[in-house]
Parts: sequence; C-alpha cells; structure tokens
Amino acid sequence: MKQYRVVQVGCGGMAHHWIDMAGNTPDLEIVGLVDLNRQTAEECAKRHGLPASVVFDTLDQALSMAKPDIVFDVTVPAAHHEVTLAALKAGCHVFGEKPLADSMERAKEMVAAAKASGKLYAVMQNRRYLPQMRGLRKALDDRLIGDISTVNADFYLGAHFGGFRDAMDSPLVLDMAIHTFDQARFICGEDPIAVYCHEYNPKGSWYKGHASAVCMFEMTNDVVFTYRGSWCAEGLNTSWESEWRVQGSKGSSKWNGANEIIAEVVSAPDGFIYKHDRITIQPLDTRLVGHDGCMDAMMTALREGKEPETVCTDNIKSLAMVFGATESAKTKQRVEIGA
Ligand SMILES: NC(=O)c1ccc[n+]([C@@H]2O[C@H](COP(=O)([O-])OP(=O)(O)OC[C@H]3O[C@@H](n4cnc5c(N)ncnc54)[C@H](O)[C@@H]3O)[C@@H](O)[C@H]2O)c1
Repeated sequence: MKQYRVVQVGCGGMAHHWIDMAGNTPDLEIVGLVDLNRQTAEECAKRHGLPASVVFDTLDQALSMAKPDIVFDVTVPAAHHEVTLAALKAGCHVFGEKPLADSMERAKEMVAAAKASGKLYAVMQNRRYLPQMRGLRKALDDRLIGDISTVNADFYLGAHFGGFRDAMDSPLVLDMAIHTFDQARFICGEDPIAVYCHEYNPKGSWYKGHASAVCMFEMTNDVVFTYRGSWCAEGLNTSWESEWRVQGSKGSSKWNGANEIIAEVVSAPDGFIYKHDRITIQPLDTRLVGHDGCMDAMMTALREGKEPETVCTDNIKSLAMVFGATESAKTKQRVEIGA
C-alpha cells in the first residue's frame, strides 16, 4: 500500500494534471474523486484508468469512506474555503490550487484552521518552479545588480476561457495576478506593505468583470513593485510568466518571460552615461518544472516534516496583495496590506 492516500476534489480542466502528478509520485495513491457533477468525476476516473469505485458523491462521504491522508483541492476559488476546512477537520493535509481563497477573511480562517490542526496546507504556485525564475532569483541573491529598488512586471494575454472567469468581478487580479504577485515576492524576497491599484475592463472585453489592472506596491526594504496586466489583450502577447525588469544599485536585469534572462551592470563608472557589461543569466537546473516542481516541493516538505515555500502561512501574503489591490481599485485609495 502507498504511504499517502489522496482524495481529489474538483475534476475539471486543471484536475487532470493533478491526477497525473499523483501517478508520477511513488508514495501517492488516488483513492477518491469528488466533483459537484458526479458525471465529471466518473469521466475523470475513466480517462485516468481509475476504478469507478473511487468516485464519491460528496467530500464528506469520501473523507469517511476512503480515509485519505491528503486532500487535493482543485475546485473553483469560491469552494476552496469549504473544501479545505472540511479536509483539515478530518485530519488531512491539503494541497490546494491557487488562489488560496476568494476573500481575505476566509483565507485567514483557513490558515488559522491549518495551524490549529497541525496539518500541512500548501498552495500550488507553479510559476515559482521555473528554471528561469530560479536563475533570476539566484543572480539577484548573488547581488549581480546590487541592492534592488524596483521590480516591474508586464502581463498581456488575450485569454478566451469561457467558464467561471468570464463572470468574476476581478478575473485578472484574483485568478491570474496571484501568480505574478507571488513571483514578485519570490524574485525580490520582499513582502508587501501597501498598494495602489486601478482596475478596468478594456474596450471590446469579453469578460464581465475587470480584465485589466495597473498596480503599484510598496514592498519591505524600500522596494517598489509595479504591475501592468490584461487578460483581454489581443496581439503582442507576453508569456504567462510575464515580462520582468529588476533595477538594482549596480545594474538592471530583464527576463522576457521565455528563455532570455539578461543583466547589464556598470563596468566603467565614468561620464554622463556609464558603460555596462551585458551578462546572460543562466536558468537554474530544476529536477521538475512548474506544477510538478511545486508538487515535488510540497511532497518533500511533507515527508521531511518541514514547511514548503508555498505553505499557507506564507502564501497568504501573496493573496493579501490581491485583495489589497482589489480594495484599492474599489476605494481609489492607497491600501495598507497586512496578512
Ligand atoms: N496553477 C495554475 O496555473 C492554474 C491553472 C488553471 C486553473 N487553476 C486553478 O485551479 C482551480 C480549478 O480550475 P479549473 O480551470 O480546473 O476549473 P474548472 O471549472 O474547469 O473545474 C473546477 C471543477 O470543480 C468542481 N467544483 C466546484 N466546486 C466544487 C465543490 N464544492 N465540490 C466539488 N467539486 C466542485 C466543478 O464542478 C468543476 O468540475 C481554480 O482554483 C483555478 O484558479 C490553476
């Protein structure tokens, strides 16, 4: 018998990769699948070669009958609260999809429940686990460009999802910018203090809510992080990872969100405009990438009794950037961020 029994809740688009990851992890076994729509769970089981007996009507039923050690929460953001609390109450660890929750109040309740339970609740932030992100972070840690003052991210994609995102109030900031905000914290190693954000829905948008936003974050250690983003941008798209520029006291670095990571550092501090050396930053070799890298980190932490980078007590700081931004957009005020 495998060491960790897993019930996965949510069998929609993202769910398949989670089941594949479980299949690729020697000590994980899927013993339950639950979806609001039973047929979705049944089709999911069939597609992955799992027996029909793994499908349960409700999470409560799966928890009591399949007796899992871990619950994978791959439901929509609005359901993360109820799924996580039920799983923790049943004594399970929870690995959940981002965003942690659909409100700060609920997120705090979930983090408090995780702390009280002594179980691990960690969140999927797959974009941290990219060789380019790790390479950039290492170069900055090694002080290639000196003391960091400014981090800029641009995110422009025309994403035609259909489904729950089209109906959300803040699809970009709540469902996508959580990645970019979390990446910003990872890149500069700083936490948010305050934000000013303007959200809007661009002309021709196919979203009901705001699909574009511009944000300015004050971070710890006097770092400023700016974000410009749209999920409703046709043409000249960035990658899903965003385009990044980091300015330091000795130089600047840029990552185009794909394979080019470069820096220019002062080589001759003389004259009106100084001379710079151009440096190519190498991606850092990672054993597993993206979702698989984050799953591996969460599992390694669980096996070793440690906390992964994306443990809920840390991840809530990235979520606080999201809700600080949406509050600022509503009130048109600078909002202080506390997680
Ligand atoms: N990390 C990433 O890159 C990434 C990418 C896509 C989606 N996601 C996240 O994954 C999650 C799921 O997204 P998706 O694209 O698979 O959505 P989806 O709508 O395709 O699937 C969600 C499924 O959850 C089910 N569900 C909803 N509430 C439930 C409940 N209370 N109990 C049981 N089942 C429930 C729905 O019936 C649906 O089948 C979201 O949080 C989303 O933000 C993350």
